[in-house]
Amino acid sequence: MTCRICSADVSVLLDLGTSPPANSLKKSPEQVQDSYPLVLEICDNCGNVQLRDCLDEEALYKDYFYVTPSSTLLSRHYDFLQSFLFKNNYLTSHSFALEIGSNVGLFLDHIKPNVAKVVGIDPAQEISELANQKGIETVCDFFNEASSVKLKDQFGNPNIILARHCFAHNCDPHRMLKGVTHLLDDSGLFVIENAYLLNTIENNEFDQIYHEHMFYYSIRSMKALLAIHNMHLVDIIMSPIHGGSIVFVAKKVSAEDKISSAVGKYTLQEDLLLTPSAFKHFVENTWRIKDTLGRLIKGLRDGGWTIYTYGATAKGNTLLNFIGLTDKEIKYCVDSTPMKQGKYLPKSNIKVISEEESQENPPDYFLLTAWNYRDEIVNKVRQSGNYTSQFIVPIPFVHIL
Ligand code: TYD
Repeated sequence: MTCRICSADVSVLLDLGTSPPANSLKKSPEQVQDSYPLVLEICDNCGNVQLRDCLDEEALYKDYFYVTPSSTLLSRHYDFLQSFLFKNNYLTSHSFALEIGSNVGLFLDHIKPNVAKVVGIDPAQEISELANQKGIETVCDFFNEASSVKLKDQFGNPNIILARHCFAHNCDPHRMLKGVTHLLDDSGLFVIENAYLLNTIENNEFDQIYHEHMFYYSIRSMKALLAIHNMHLVDIIMSPIHGGSIVFVAKKVSAEDKISSAVGKYTLQEDLLLTPSAFKHFVENTWRIKDTLGRLIKGLRDGGWTIYTYGATAKGNTLLNFIGLTDKEIKYCVDSTPMKQGKYLPKSNIKVISEEESQENPPDYFLLTAWNYRDEIVNKVRQSGNYTSQFIVPIPFVHIL
């Protein structure tokens, strides 16, 4: 196989077996789903880490139930991102902001009062309808060169294009960048927010590997990709969201561009830390977590204790299916998203229930599959008066709260 950024040869970094698409919840436990390999590859030439097998977009988004949760953590993150963009004049009150993969429009809704115009584009039908109902103009389509032509005709050139946690959800990033370079003029900015490979590796976040995540970007691989499209990084900011994310600010190369010192600082940091030994530890720790968590859950279940998972997350499905945990060991999955409730997790067949149902009949343990919202969820459960259920946190190492 070859690198989908630079076409050099790649080698296998980690093989997690097979799993159905992680966001394809089932309407009934009997529904049959196909499973596909989850194999991670690495390119020595440009540093790219990619998923070997890419599913076609239709298979991936057919039964798509990911709705951005309403969360105080996310809302604080939106404030943080918005103030970074305004402080540096990347966004101004005159800006037209276009967001790719805008989901139900929560981020655009956040910035809408402070900019001239916002438009979203998202391929999921039900989800883009929800955004439009809420007043965020959203085009239902995949973002690529063809849709960028239509967007330009309809809305004109955006000053800024944002792709937050969706840029890696695409097996050919060149296609998306062709659309971006078509839409942006020479001063336009492209802001990509993504899980950061260095954090994924350092925190043993192997559960971030699922079919939507077709790339695991580092600064090195992002620079290599942008260079092919005559673009470069002008700024970077780090954020703790989703287990450690990076915000890349890119634009078309021009001699006058001012490059923030953050680009040099974080590049050096990455060169020093994202080493072959870091990758080796990541792989070893992945197998260690599988073994420890598998034994812990099966042991507790055999001892007669009840276990629910908390968060019908995509990463939770990687975790459960890699370890081989099912509705035999785990009674329910709790999730606040109405669209997910009453459905069943892919392969493990665990039924999703609401937080209210869980409060009525709490388990002895919650396996925290939404560990990225750990403090928010633990506080919520404690504030509901439940001081007895314990939390099993799988990442960065298995521990109990
Ligand atoms: P998310 O972090 O987006 O995970 P992934 O990208 O791996 O799918 O999903 C978080 C899930 O957790 C989402 O389905 C909503 C749920 N959730 C709750 O059930 N209660 C909460 O208090 C919060 C914050 C999230």
